[in-house]
Order: sequence, then structure tokens, then C-alpha cells
Amino acid sequence: MKKVTHAVIPVAGFGSRMLPLSKSIPKELLPLGRLPVIHYVIEEAIAAGIKHIVLVTHPQKQAIENYFDINVELDTALRESGKISLADNLQWLPDDVKISSIRQGKRLGLGHAVGAARPIIDGHHFAVLLPDVVIDPFKTNYAKQNLAYMTQQFLETGHSQILVDPVAEEDIHKYGVAELGEETKIYAKSQTNASLPVTGFVEKPDAKEAPSNLAVVGRYVFDCQILDYLDRTAPDKKGEIQLTDAIDALIQSAPVDVATMIGNSFDAGNMSTYLEAFNYFSEQQL
Ligand code: G1P
Repeated sequence: MKKVTHAVIPVAGFGSRMLPLSKSIPKELLPLGRLPVIHYVIEEAIAAGIKHIVLVTHPQKQAIENYFDINVELDTALRESGKISLADNLQWLPDDVKISSIRQGKRLGLGHAVGAARPIIDGHHFAVLLPDVVIDPFKTNYAKQNLAYMTQQFLETGHSQILVDPVAEEDIHKYGVAELGEETKIYAKSQTNASLPVTGFVEKPDAKEAPSNLAVVGRYVFDCQILDYLDRTAPDKKGEIQLTDAIDALIQSAPVDVATMIGNSFDAGNMSTYLEAFNYFSEQQL
């Protein structure tokens, strides 16, 4: 059964690009308009049918787990003082959705973080959502587009799905980049989600050597065998286990597709793009 009900969200990172804001507040809890960054990412996962979300976390980031847990004292105080709708709004997480967490231990890269979820997700096909990346919730339909499209494609084809979006040449070195063959080196922005077979990925190439302009956005749907590939992935020059390298190896034995993205994504893990996103979300919610 290729139904995807599990998702992994790696949240153990220091957030060094967001200092000093992220020194004592996890970057995932910084505000975007009226809600913290990770709230949108969890809503996206739930809209795509995810029922069990695994946070791969760190002891310093317990505030994230607290955000998704009920605060009984606060709930009682709000209800006793008649602020019923405020209390109800805090219980937005659907009853059939579970959020659990597991520690990453040493921070050895994104691939290592995803692999750390194995004790909970083993045997399940699963999605990965990077919490820095927020897809515009005002102009995209989380229930049908992007991650929801990818889980549907996976159900129908069994091919792992990697969300990609064209980026400008000067930004290409910040991303994993897809290789689709000579005829698809330059891809125009899609108006609809489309799945295309991919032949490889390169993590953060120089623009001149990039195999295409299609960058990995931060949404993935994997066949569970990716965990075995992660176990076998050697660390890179910086000593990090890259998810991109494991996907590149998976492609050698199982079909993997890129899914082209609809709408805009915001990088909330970098100060200047976070501030742009902050302004946009605030304007939408004034
Ligand atoms: C990670 C991935 C990269 C992807 C990017 C998207 O990089 O390794 O392939 O394109 O997320 O945001 P990071 O931004 O963590 O360095």
C-alpha cells in the first residue's frame, strides 16, 4: 500500500542564519503573520493526508513540542475566565493527527536527521517537510497541490517524489539540483503540478556545473527503502550525510520523479527572505 500517512520534519538545527532571533527561540517558532513558521508546515502536511508527524529534534528545542501539546493550566485558566473561543483555537490539531518526537543526537546533516526518525517510521512510506520552507498558504491549495499532489502520485505510481522549482542562476548553489537530461536543462515555472522522471541530483553545485535550473524545494515523498540508502550514504567533505546523496543512489535502483511546484515558497530560515515573508504574511493577515 503506497498511501503516505507519516511525515518527518527535521527541527534540530541551530538556526544560525537567524541569529540572534533564534538564540533562545527555535527558528521554527518565529512568527509569520499570526502564526509561527512551523504551524503552516504542519497544516500543509495535514491537508495532504498525513496522520503521524515525527519531529526530529534537539534538547534545546523543546518549545516546539510544547507548541503542539495541550497546556492544561492555560486551557483551564482561559475557560474559567470565559475565553472559550481562545481556548478552542489552541486546540486546532485534529484528533486523528499525532505528533511525536525523537532526538537527532549529533547534528550530522539532513540525511542523518531523516534517518534518525527510523525507530518511529520504519516500514512506512513517508514525506519529509523542511520547516524553513513555507509554501504560500494564501495562493496555493494545500489539500490538492504540491505535497498533496506528490502523495497522490506516489499512491498511483509508487515512484518517490521530490518537489522542485526553477531558481535563478545566482541562487542555484544554495540547493540540491535535479538532472533530467539534456532537453530539460532550463525549465519554465509551472502553472500545474507535473511529475517528470529524474536521473540524478547534485547537492549545491556551482551554477556553471548545475544539471538544470530545477532546485529541490524541501518537500519529499519517499518509499521507505530510502532509509536503507541513508544508512549507506557516506558523509560529505563537511562530515554531513546529505539526503540528496541518498536520493541520487536510490535513483540507480528505483524510479524517482520530480514534481514541479505551484505557487511561491518562502525561505524562513534566512534573515532577508524571512523578513520578506514576514511582511507578506502580515499584510495578508492584518
Ligand atoms: C537543504 C537540502 C537541499 C535543498 C534545500 C531546500 O539544504 O540539502 O538539497 O535544496 O534544503 O531548502 P539546506 O538549505 O538545509 O542547506
